[in-house]
Amino acid sequence: NDLDKGAYPYYMIKEIDEQPAVIRRLIQTYKNDQGQFEVPADLITAMQQASNLHIVACGTSAHAGWVGKTLFESMVGIPTMVHTASEFAYHQPLLGDKPFFIFLTQSGETADSRQALVKVNEKGYPSLTITNVKGSTLSREAGYTLLLHAGPEIAVASTKAYTAQITVMAILADVLSNHDYGFDMGHELSIIATAMESILSEKDTIKAWVDANLMATRNAFYIGRHLDYYVSMEAALKLKEISYVQTEAFASGELKHGTIALVESGTPVIAVVSDPTTASHTRGNVEEVKARGANAMVIATQDLAKEGDQFVVPSIQAELSPLATVVVTQLIAYYTALGRGLDVDKPRNLAKSVTVE
Ligand code: G6P
Repeated sequence: NDLDKGAYPYYMIKEIDEQPAVIRRLIQTYKNDQGQFEVPADLITAMQQASNLHIVACGTSAHAGWVGKTLFESMVGIPTMVHTASEFAYHQPLLGDKPFFIFLTQSGETADSRQALVKVNEKGYPSLTITNVKGSTLSREAGYTLLLHAGPEIAVASTKAYTAQITVMAILADVLSNHDYGFDMGHELSIIATAMESILSEKDTIKAWVDANLMATRNAFYIGRHLDYYVSMEAALKLKEISYVQTEAFASGELKHGTIALVESGTPVIAVVSDPTTASHTRGNVEEVKARGANAMVIATQDLAKEGDQFVVPSIQAELSPLATVVVTQLIAYYTALGRGLDVDKPRNLAKSVTVE
C-alpha cells in the first residue's frame, strides 16, 4: 500500500528507494506500441509553435526546472527560462514573441504557482502543468497536464517528485526533438534506474560518510558547475530543510568572488563532478577550498572519478546526470537528519503543500 511506510522508519527513505521504480513506470507509461515516447499531439503542436518556454515553480520543483531548461535548450533548441513562481506572479520579464508556460508542481496546489498561472491565463498564453496529482488545481487550470506517476509523496522533503519531474521533461524533450539528438532516451533512462539502484545499495557507505563528517557542523556548502550546480541547489535545500544545517549551493566558479571567505577550518564543502567539460575546473575549486582548511568531499561519476573521492556514481548520459547524483545527496540529507535525531518527515516550520501566498 502506497500510504503505508511498511518496514521503513520514515516516508522519506521509502520514497527515495522508490525512485528506480518510478523511472521505469514513466518509461512504460509514456512509450507507445512502437516503443517510442509519445505525449498528446496537440500539446506537441502547441509547444512547437512557441518561441520561448517559461518554467514556473517553487522549491524543489523549481530546482528540477533548471535541469529541464538545460534539456529543452540542448535537445530541442528552444530558449527556456526558469522562474520562481512568487517572483513571477507580479513581475514578468519580457516573455518573447510566443511564450509557452510549464508549471512544475508535485501537489498541483501551491498557491504561488497557481497565482502565476492565473496571470498566464489572463493573458491567454498556452500552458502545461506537470504534476503528481491528477485533477489538482494547477492541472485543471492549465491547458495541458502530464502526470508524474510517482505515487503519493508524503515526506515534506520532496525526493521522487524531483526525479520524476526531470524524467517527464526528458521524455517531453525527446518527443519535441523527434527522437533525434544522438542518444536513445528510453535506453538511457533505464540505465539511470539501474544506476540509482546501485547508489541505493550503498546506503551504509553514505551513512558512515555522513556520520564522520556532518554530525557536528553548523554549516556546509555544495559546489558544482552547470548541471552539477543545479543539483547542488537541490542538495543544499534538502540538507538544510531536514537537518537544519545551514547549507548553500554555489556555482563553483563564483567561490573566488566572495563565498570562499566563508570557508574555515573544517567547513564541509561537497563538490558534485559529473560534467566532463568543467570537471577539471571544479577539481581546481576543491583544491582552493582545501587550501583554506575546508573538509572537501567529492561526489563524481565513474568516468571522472579520482582516487580519494568520497562517492562514485555509475557513469550515465551527461545531460541526465542529476537523476543519479541527486540520489546521493538525498541520502546525505536523510542520514544527517536521522543522525541528529530529527523528525525526518516533518521538519519544523514547513508544510508539504503551501496553499497560501
Ligand atoms: C513546499 C514543499 C517543498 C516543495 C514546494 C513546492 O515548500 O515543502 O518540498 O518543493 O512546496 O511544491 P509543489 O507541490 O508545487 O511542487
